[in-house]
Amino acid sequence: MRSREQARHLLEFIDASPSPWHAVETTADHLRHAGFVALRENERWQLAAGGRYFVVRGGASIIAFVVGRGNLDTCGFRLVGAHTDSPGLRIKPKALQVGDGLLGLGVEVYGGPLLATFADRDLSLAGRVAVRDGDGVAMRLVHFAEPLLRLPNLAIHMNREVNENGLKFNKQTELPLLLGLAGDSPADDGRFHSLLATQLEVAPADILSWELAVCDTQPGAFWGAGQEFIADSQLDNLASCHAGLIALLGAESPATTNVCAFFDHEEVGSESATGAGGSFIADVLRRVAAHGVRDDEGYRCALARSFFISADMAHAYHPNFPAAYEPAHRVAVNGGPVLKINANQRYSTGAESAARFIRLCEKAGVPCQQYAHRSDLGCGSTIGPLVAAGLGVASVDVGSPMWAMHSIRESAGVLDHGYMIAALTAAFSE
Ligand code: CO
Repeated sequence: MRSREQARHLLEFIDASPSPWHAVETTADHLRHAGFVALRENERWQLAAGGRYFVVRGGASIIAFVVGRGNLDTCGFRLVGAHTDSPGLRIKPKALQVGDGLLGLGVEVYGGPLLATFADRDLSLAGRVAVRDGDGVAMRLVHFAEPLLRLPNLAIHMNREVNENGLKFNKQTELPLLLGLAGDSPADDGRFHSLLATQLEVAPADILSWELAVCDTQPGAFWGAGQEFIADSQLDNLASCHAGLIALLGAESPATTNVCAFFDHEEVGSESATGAGGSFIADVLRRVAAHGVRDDEGYRCALARSFFISADMAHAYHPNFPAAYEPAHRVAVNGGPVLKINANQRYSTGAESAARFIRLCEKAGVPCQQYAHRSDLGCGSTIGPLVAAGLGVASVDVGSPMWAMHSIRESAGVLDHGYMIAALTAAFSE
């Protein structure tokens, strides 16, 4: 697969994954197709050398691994981490709002989206719904493929300063999304339950609860004079999930135990049972080690020989806004993977781990760039420092360059996706 095919595959991956729960399902589908065996956390694991496995926690976090041929305590783990969630809008539990002849849906802002980019787009819903199932509860994925929702702009005739002051929304009063005409029927939450129930082919009374994300309906696209760029929703950070997944699938019977860990809740700080700040990664590695080295001493040796690559998108230089960037650290779209460096440990990269990643890029034959944020601007963070702190492993923060991070329509480079896959493949082949 060369860059264009890899980028096309990425866009298909994202379009099949309109929510973090769908992203995990799409990832699991690819893994199953490649012969990976699904494990459950609440059952005992029987692992074999060379075996390929994955485990899901909470529906939106997934860890996949290939048990290495070599001894774990002398080879360690090779880990690639990324996140499945993207900032945006989530539907409130008592969502339906009726007034002025219209139906609306109340939303909560999830993480830090560029809210203005949600206006005037063909929006819809995707997520998971808990439905009554005999004596228990079944979690069902739901996705409305057709446009369902909208946030129309206020016309410029009523918002004369918008091009000078920027497009702003009050998060409580001005973000509810239009869903339809109210008609004559009485307003109650049952109407939204009915909408979900019809889509899921269950009775409305069986809908118990949900986590629903507002998603875009526009498929991913190539753009540019040479079609050298891509645009889609959720490039941050499904592009990194996809790159890690393809690299994991591509590594044939490695000596090291290779692991991909994709977490929910990065955009809201990662502190959850399923997030990178939780116990998921340590729980899984410990169980893999219990198969391979059998004692805690061996596990500690394995961790000390491990390497974690935190893959999350990087800020590409935008030529219209030169003042937003650190002049010596402008990174170019299609210029290759970016090492993200921050002395205050917003990124986990250090000199040794940076050098190691530079060598991996050399081995893969791909260029490598270095990014530092402006010193007078707050820097974002990633799962890198959290996982590095929790496991005590050597760690580096890297990412592909992109524009418009946290827009509902982000863009990036075709070549960069192929470069990242090559670099991560090299990491899994060390
Ligand atoms: Co991100």
